[in-house]
Amino acid sequence: MQHSSVRQNDLLTVFSQKPIDEEWSFADCKPSDTAKWTHAYHRYPAKFIPQLVEKLFDEYLHGPMASVNDPFMGSGTTVVSAISRGYYASGTDINRIAFLIAAVKARPLDPQHLEKKLGYFFDQLAILDQEKNYALSGRDVEPLVPERHFERIKYWFSEENIIKLGQIHRLISREEDHTIKNYLLVAFSNVLKNCSIWLKSSTKPTRDFKKKPEDPYVAIKRQLKKMQRGNAAFYAQVPEMVRRNPDAFLNLKIDDARQQRVPGDSVDLVVTSSPYVTSYEYADLHQLSTIWLDLANDLTEYKKEFIGTSFKKYEDRRLDSRIARDIVASMQEKNRKMAREIEAFFIDMQDVIGESYRILKKGGRACYVIGNTRLREVDVLNAEVFAETMLSCGFELDRIIKRQIPSKILPQTRDARTGKFAKTSDADNHAYPCEYIAIGKK
Ligand SMILES: C[S@@+](CC[C@H](N)C(=O)[O-])C[C@H]1O[C@@H](n2cnc3c(N)ncnc32)[C@H](O)[C@@H]1O
Repeated sequence: MQHSSVRQNDLLTVFSQKPIDEEWSFADCKPSDTAKWTHAYHRYPAKFIPQLVEKLFDEYLHGPMASVNDPFMGSGTTVVSAISRGYYASGTDINRIAFLIAAVKARPLDPQHLEKKLGYFFDQLAILDQEKNYALSGRDVEPLVPERHFERIKYWFSEENIIKLGQIHRLISREEDHTIKNYLLVAFSNVLKNCSIWLKSSTKPTRDFKKKPEDPYVAIKRQLKKMQRGNAAFYAQVPEMVRRNPDAFLNLKIDDARQQRVPGDSVDLVVTSSPYVTSYEYADLHQLSTIWLDLANDLTEYKKEFIGTSFKKYEDRRLDSRIARDIVASMQEKNRKMAREIEAFFIDMQDVIGESYRILKKGGRACYVIGNTRLREVDVLNAEVFAETMLSCGFELDRIIKRQIPSKILPQTRDARTGKFAKTSDADNHAYPCEYIAIGKK
């Protein structure tokens, strides 16, 4: 159903009457489908499934050449899918670890070159492992442990694992091929949780003193082998012209979503999913990688750059969306601080959507995947607000898709009072069993 004539007044009705479109649920998708190519290199909260992105490409991109953008690229599902088809891919993420993951996943590596490099790396690992006495072998391969984060590292890791991880980190630091080094760092980053006492499958930074952390030598080897298979499959998929010169097709930045480094009127399709207000603190969630890879001087300052965190407020900006203003007013009666956070989130998103409008070609589409939430008994209608914001930014509202998120890929449940993600048993409210794709046409 098309919505080109939808006016702001009708929006709430359109959304409330929207049936679920089964075609967009991908209920039959197997884990091996969603984890294909490089997509499973690194865990990432609220990651897209590639099938969703590919279906949007099928609907909206028709020539061999196209330019795709994702302002909140996260672990890079959109950009990987774009590269797999030979499209130009641009995107930003403020999270430095997200940028590293996305950049590595989107770059196909020559499998023979990788085989050689990994062979050498595994040989060095085997030497460390044979010595068994990791403390002794530490003399040759001095553990590389970022000193300024040492206290945090001790908080999460045993002494033995700090030495072993430090040695692996040292071996990686000696790799001179920058692309291979980043590839190894992504593998390293993804094993950190299993090698620590971070409570398994928890999105909150919680220690589990009963957990038996994995041996880093074993974990990194398994991870690299898995990534090697993923790269081979991806390499086979990516068109020859992209393989020859991936830099010409990739424009990824550590940057704010409100500022895409691409010219106006140059992009055919934006596919993205934004953060949610007061849900994940991405900076906290990735702290093991951030401290080991030494990606931030000051975690508290770093957090303030993220959209949807509880660190923001604006004094002098006005929300264009009437629905957004109503939500903020309802929250004002329950909790003033949360009302300010929601307002700041919608103001930031207004700027991001405006930026999508600027960079799109005439006729290009912006597809925002978003679910609604309930905080302190107030319905936070993110999807309706995004759709209304699209209209105020100049978009035509082209289409709204309501999709069910099959339970196997439903990330977590939310606590209805705080809105934070919680373990299923702790929460009294489902996170977003349904979500929307709001599609605007320039
Ligand atoms: C829902 S996730 C995106 C997941 C992505 N679709 C994927 O498949 O991995 C939202 C992302 O927004 C990023 N983010 C938060 N604030 C940002 C900002 N100001 N600028 C750019 N990215 C930001 C977060 O770091 C996070 O990676």
